[in-house]
Amino acid sequence: VSRSQPTQPGTPPLVVAHRGASGELPEHTLAAYDLALRQGADGLECDVRLTRDGKLICMHDRRIDRTSNGSGTVSAMTLDALRAHDYGSWHAEMASRQRAAAALGDPDVDNKNIERYAEPTSVLTLRELLTLVLDWDRPRTLFIETKHPVRYGALVEMKLIAELQRFGLAKRPPSATPPVVMMSFAPSAVFRIRRSAPNLPTVLLGENSRYLGYAPTTSGVPAAIGPSIEMLREHPKVVERARASGRATYVWTVDEKADVELCRDLGVRWIATNYPARTKRVFES
Ligand code: G3P
Ligand code: CA
Repeated sequence: VSRSQPTQPGTPPLVVAHRGASGELPEHTLAAYDLALRQGADGLECDVRLTRDGKLICMHDRRIDRTSNGSGTVSAMTLDALRAHDYGSWHAEMASRQRAAAALGDPDVDNKNIERYAEPTSVLTLRELLTLVLDWDRPRTLFIETKHPVRYGALVEMKLIAELQRFGLAKRPPSATPPVVMMSFAPSAVFRIRRSAPNLPTVLLGENSRYLGYAPTTSGVPAAIGPSIEMLREHPKVVERARASGRATYVWTVDEKADVELCRDLGVRWIATNYPARTKRVFES
């Protein structure tokens, strides 16, 4: 993400595990992130939300209903209340689909992980995830996406920077493998982070063409841009334009081989995928 190291076309992108190895294990669980690290992912992606008692947890949805056996809105629940539910067993249904696929000989199904789908798992805090990443044997980058930028945005960012500072990460000088990158779909959130933590690399995410006219002239300009793979297919020149202004590109969510190869050919620096092991294998062949 460093401005001094633009990625040239043909360079294999670094592989970021989207919500962990979430194609194989329940998203945003310690097990999914641990598996991604063991599979050699270069980075991890997570979404963060604020609980009612001001704790940052890793969760995509506003509510816990899809990814747990409970029900409710994250911002209306305390961390203790969130911990009362199980965030692993919901994958049991997916496990049975995976078993059926494995039985049919689908080569993408990794048999040894199937049985782990249904394990009960607690909600994951950002602190627990940061600890996992920082304790790993070689540097990896955690891409943290802040959700609900409009209603609680500034508060989430303030808490996030305080939490990063607790680990000594918010003010670190820029490096080729930054331990943390902050991301948001909201330019206002990225600009606020740039103002309060200028050394923290940022990615401005987007899935429409407002990117293409993005003028890198303000002081709050993101270090990288983050188009969706759908947008990249339609507007591949966005990578070249970003490179011309010294910016890297982060593309999500890249699960198909042809898309992985497209990203490599264009010189995308980071790709977020639900299948880090299989994505890394594309570059070995
Ligand atoms: O990595 C960026 C990507 O995660 C953005 O979309 O909805 O999965 O958070 P979403
Ligand atoms: Ca995300």
